[in-house]
Amino acid sequence: MQPVRHLVSIDDISLEEMTALFRAADRFSADPRGFANFAPGLITASLFYEPSTRTRLSFESAMLRLGGGVLTAAEMTSSSASKGESLADTVRVVGGGYADLIVLRHPSEGAARLAADYSPVPVVNAGDGSHEHPTQTLCDLYNLHVERGRIAGLDVVLAGDLKYSRTVHSFAYALARFGANIVCVPQPGFEMPDYVLRRLREEFGVEPMRADAKRLGALAAKTDAVYLTPHKPHQLSLFTDASHWEVEHVDAVYMTRPQTERYSDGERQQRDYLRIEKGSMGAESLRDAVVMHPLPRRDEIAADMDDDPRSIYFKQTARGVPIRMAILSWLLGRLPEAPLAAPRIDVNHRSKVAHNPCPNPSCISRTETRHASPSFAVIARTPLRARCGYCSREFTFRFVGCASTRNYHAPESHSVRQILPGNLVFFSDRDQAEEHGFHATQSVLA
Ligand code: NCD
Repeated sequence: MQPVRHLVSIDDISLEEMTALFRAADRFSADPRGFANFAPGLITASLFYEPSTRTRLSFESAMLRLGGGVLTAAEMTSSSASKGESLADTVRVVGGGYADLIVLRHPSEGAARLAADYSPVPVVNAGDGSHEHPTQTLCDLYNLHVERGRIAGLDVVLAGDLKYSRTVHSFAYALARFGANIVCVPQPGFEMPDYVLRRLREEFGVEPMRADAKRLGALAAKTDAVYLTPHKPHQLSLFTDASHWEVEHVDAVYMTRPQTERYSDGERQQRDYLRIEKGSMGAESLRDAVVMHPLPRRDEIAADMDDDPRSIYFKQTARGVPIRMAILSWLLGRLPEAPLAAPRIDVNHRSKVAHNPCPNPSCISRTETRHASPSFAVIARTPLRARCGYCSREFTFRFVGCASTRNYHAPESHSVRQILPGNLVFFSDRDQAEEHGFHATQSVLA
C-alpha cells in the first residue's frame, strides 16, 4: 500500500504538484458549486487547538462544496485533551474510522509532524505554533499566480512580525523554491529568525543581504530591510553588506499582524508597529504592488487602504476556498490533474533519532514525551549544528555522546565520526551529559 501523503510543511509538496493545484483551483473557482460529486461519502475532521476563522471555515466550506462531510472540533480544549489525552492518541482515534483526513491547528511547533507519524489518514497542518502554515502559503502563492501570472522572478516584500508569523516562514521557503526575490521589512526586534534564513541560504541557495530600503519610501523607513535573492553567488558570512539592491519595482507587499499571543513579556511592550496606509504606499516602486495579508488584521493595514485597487486581502482570503478544494481533493486522491504520488523524500524532517529532547520549549517533543522520539538532522559537524525533526529549529550542541559506549566527546573529536548516526546523542553542556550517565572522554577534558 502506498504510504499516506500528508501536508505538514510546504516542503512536502513539489513545485509541479503546487502548479497542478493552482490549475485545479482555477477550475473550482470558475464554478464553485459544480463539483459536489468530487468527494461524496468522504469526511474531514477539523481539530483546532487554537482559534481560527478563515482557515477552518474555508476548509469546511471547501469540503462541503466537494460533496463531502465535516466533523468540527473547533475547541479542542473542551475535548478529551482536557482529560490528558495525547495528540498521538487523538489522531489515531479520529483517523481510525471517524474521518478520512484531519485538518489540525495546534500551538506547539512540530505538532502536525507528530500527528502525521501516528495518523492513519492524511494530516494537513493548519498552523503549528510559529513554525509553518503550508495551506495559507498555497493560498498566498495561488493569489500571486492569479494576480501576476507567475511566481518566479517576482519581488515580494514580507513585512511586520517575521519572527513569529508561521505564514511568513512557509511562504518564504516556497518563494525561494519558485525563484522569487524576497525583501524582508521586519518590525524591529521581530526579524526573520536565523534558522529560517540559514535554511533559505543553505537549502535553497538564497543570499541574504543587508540592504538600503530607500526605494520603499515610508513603508520601510523605520526598519533595516534585508534582501533575499536566489540569484546571488554564495558568500562566506550569513549576511552580505550591500548599500543598494536592484529592486525598482515591487510586485507584492505581504503584511502580517503582531503575533502577540506568542510574545514574551518584554516583546509585548513593543509599540509603533509598522503600518500600511495610503500615505506609506506612495513610493514609485510600490505603484502597482498588490497588498496582501493572511488576516486577521489589526491596525497594520489602515482602513483607508481597503478601497485601494492594490489591496487584495479580501480576495486573497476568498481564494482560500478553491485552493483548499484542490488540496483536499488531491490528498483524498480525487484530483485527476494531480495524481497522488509517493511522499517526497524529505531530508529535513526524517532525521536521526536522538536521546535528548529538543531545547525549544515550544516544540511538541517537549510536551508529547510519551509519543515523540527526539530526532535531529545534523546540518554541520564543526561546530555541531542539528535541526529538530519536529520544530525545524537549529541548535548548536557542545558535546556528542554515543548511546552504545556511553562516552561523550567534543564535537571536533575524531571519535565522533565513528559514531553510527542512530547512536548520536547531543548535549548542551557537561551537566546534561553526566545526568544521562555518560562519561567524559579526553577530548572533553582537554
Ligand atoms: C494566520 C495564522 O493563523 O497563522 N491566519 C490565517 O490562518 N489566515 C495569520 C495570523 O493569525 O496572523
